[in-house]
Amino acid sequence: ICPGRGFPSTLTVCGMAAVWQQVLAVDDFEEDPRAQGARGHRRSVSRGSYQLQAQMNRAVYDERTPGALVPTSVAEASRAMAGDTTLSENYAFAGMHHIFDQHVDSAVPRLQFANDDKHLLACCSLDGTLSIMILSPSPPSVKVVLKGHAGPVTDFAWSLSNDVIVSTSKDGTLRIWNTEDGRCIREVRDPEASELLCCTFQPMNNNLTVVGNSKHLLQVVNISTGKKVKGGSSKLTGRVLSMSFDAPGRILWAGDDRGSVFSFLFDMATGKLTKAKRLVVSEGSPICSISARSWISREARDPSLLINACVNKLLLYRVVDNEGTLQLKRSFPIKHGSQPLHSIFCPLMSFRQGACVVTGSEDACVYFFDVERNTKAIVNKLQGHGGPVLDVSFNCDESLLASADSTGMVIIWRREQK
Ligand SMILES: *[C@@H]1O[C@H](CO)[C@@H](O)[C@H](O)[C@H]1NC(C)=O
Ligand SMILES: *[C@@H]1O[C@H](CO)[C@@H](O)[C@H](O)[C@H]1NC(C)=O
Repeated sequence: ICPGRGFPSTLTVCGMAAVWQQVLAVDDFEEDPRAQGARGHRRSVSRGSYQLQAQMNRAVYDERTPGALVPTSVAEASRAMAGDTTLSENYAFAGMHHIFDQHVDSAVPRLQFANDDKHLLACCSLDGTLSIMILSPSPPSVKVVLKGHAGPVTDFAWSLSNDVIVSTSKDGTLRIWNTEDGRCIREVRDPEASELLCCTFQPMNNNLTVVGNSKHLLQVVNISTGKKVKGGSSKLTGRVLSMSFDAPGRILWAGDDRGSVFSFLFDMATGKLTKAKRLVVSEGSPICSISARSWISREARDPSLLINACVNKLLLYRVVDNEGTLQLKRSFPIKHGSQPLHSIFCPLMSFRQGACVVTGSEDACVYFFDVERNTKAIVNKLQGHGGPVLDVSFNCDESLLASADSTGMVIIWRREQK
């Protein structure tokens, strides 16, 4: 129906009313001395230095021991080299790279690039399938469709080596898929036969997956056996909608539809969960997204949690102790009343000027915010979706951003290379 799909010029051919445009935030040069410096340096930022910066940031990641919070000398070097580019420049997008519409007519609630593979991503759909997409070699294509769930697919996760995807569905099953051939390796039925709403891998042991259901239960499942882990379950106060581990896999946060976020201590040896803390973000407001980041920049090295809670704000919390206690650090205005919106930390840490977070919004835009900037935190805004933007994902070198919406459209945005 839509042969040349994928580029802005073909949008009208496809009959879509989407108008795309990129709105760069206007830097407040008066208020921000860093930005003043940036003006004179703009021309000197080359594509090469950006790529090297990315590699160096990656190196900092790799040599970091679990839990370590202090940046290395490499970070200092990358900072010195990058100069004074502003985050607006770093997160400028050249436009749409591709549009995938294989799920159009059903919402795509989640999408996620694979680990360390910048051209591989997957998404799940309320149409009951997941798809794995490959962006290179050109043209981008759907590599395989994962078929088997008998109801809407609510969430999924890539294993560390990308060989396996786990998914949850309202059909009451957790499925484990081979990502090469799309085969379903295992199906694990929820013992309570309730809808499964979210899942995540234990980051240090991919044999273990945590699943949340609509009967308030959080459960650790050993995916090599398909069995529940003894002591690995706990009840929340509502339907379990979102989850995130900290990087070392020691603390798990889970959010429910009654507005509570619970922290759990995870015992690596046994897979047991111990309930630690509870925070009521906003009574009765669903916690649709939780993302943890151990440290986000040299300037803000504190462990943080990003939360979407249907309060017309994206919330950034500081993790203040090793039991996962949260303290609100700041919030950013977005349109968010009821849709299951998600947000992320940018994967590469910028040692230049703070760090960025990206979120979907009900006004059909993707928003970028600078977490360290007190005034005019908005760094960029991408327009092009035809409905609320439900999820966003960066690839590993941040050259591409993917976003998915309630109409089932997936847009791949290309980062501007300087
Ligand atoms: C999963 O368990 C098997 C068998 O115990 C082990 O060989 C494998 O390394 C484990 N995988 C991960 C990712 O921990
Ligand atoms: C998961 O199951 C595998 C295979 O039986 C087993 O080797 C492993 O110890 C189990 N892991 C946990 C944490 O129960």
